[in-house]
Amino acid sequence: MSTMNLILHVWRQKNTADPGRFVTYRADDISEHMSFLEMLDVVNEGLIERGEEPIAFDHDCREGICGTCGMVINGTPHGPRKATTTCQLHMRTFRDGDEITIEPWRAAAFPVVRDLVVDRSAFDRIIAAGGFVGVGTGSAPDGNAIPVPKDDAERAMDAAACIGCGACVAACPNASAMLFTAAKISHLGLLPQGQAERDRRALAMVARMDAEQFGSCTNHAECEAVCPKSISIETIARMNRDYIAASMVRRPKTTGSGGTG
Ligand code: SF4
Ligand code: FES
Repeated sequence: MSTMNLILHVWRQKNTADPGRFVTYRADDISEHMSFLEMLDVVNEGLIERGEEPIAFDHDCREGICGTCGMVINGTPHGPRKATTTCQLHMRTFRDGDEITIEPWRAAAFPVVRDLVVDRSAFDRIIAAGGFVGVGTGSAPDGNAIPVPKDDAERAMDAAACIGCGACVAACPNASAMLFTAAKISHLGLLPQGQAERDRRALAMVARMDAEQFGSCTNHAECEAVCPKSISIETIARMNRDYIAASMVRRPKTTGSGGTG
């Protein structure tokens, strides 16, 4: 098993009001099999032993599922590997002697709470504005009780893969949350169960996104490039179509699946 010694430049910030600064640490004898978060755990153990404050960072599942982890690694949200969350990034991606810069998401709508931890509750408020269906769900229905065209089901599932991590916002030069919001709108709007609130959902979630001070999309596509779940910017086009149709109240009533693409 090969190990490596690294130099880390880590953003340390005591609280939201603190201006923050980079602090340099050594990370020695790091196994190539460790995840990026495990490497930070090792650094934190050393800091605690020396009586220093450990580096604060968010994490939960460590399996790429929950969307809790996230930091900017050498300038890229979630680091250099495509379609990979920070918790699934392995140290074999790096080389002995590398210097790694680690920062929190940078966006006015995601204020830094401490070190690498940001407040992403703006995402929760966007979801609360319309990211749900009002139909009674009851117990699990039979598989074919509500037929859904295969294409619609697959596109809805692709959009539902969004884990709400916020990397799309961190990567966007406008700090836009449109990929996240569009993923949620697509995931529900492509399915028959999501039709009842389709217009209201698009209007309310976009209004909330704007109110939270996220920027607008100007088609840089940086969001898609860093998204650990490979959410397509096609979802943004779908959201815009839904939003415009709902604003003009001229979208014809849908029947069946509502999968108008
Ligand atoms: S769209 Fe991708 S990058 Fe944005 S919150 Fe969802 S999973 Fe994360
Ligand atoms: S800790 Fe859950 S996705 Fe990384």
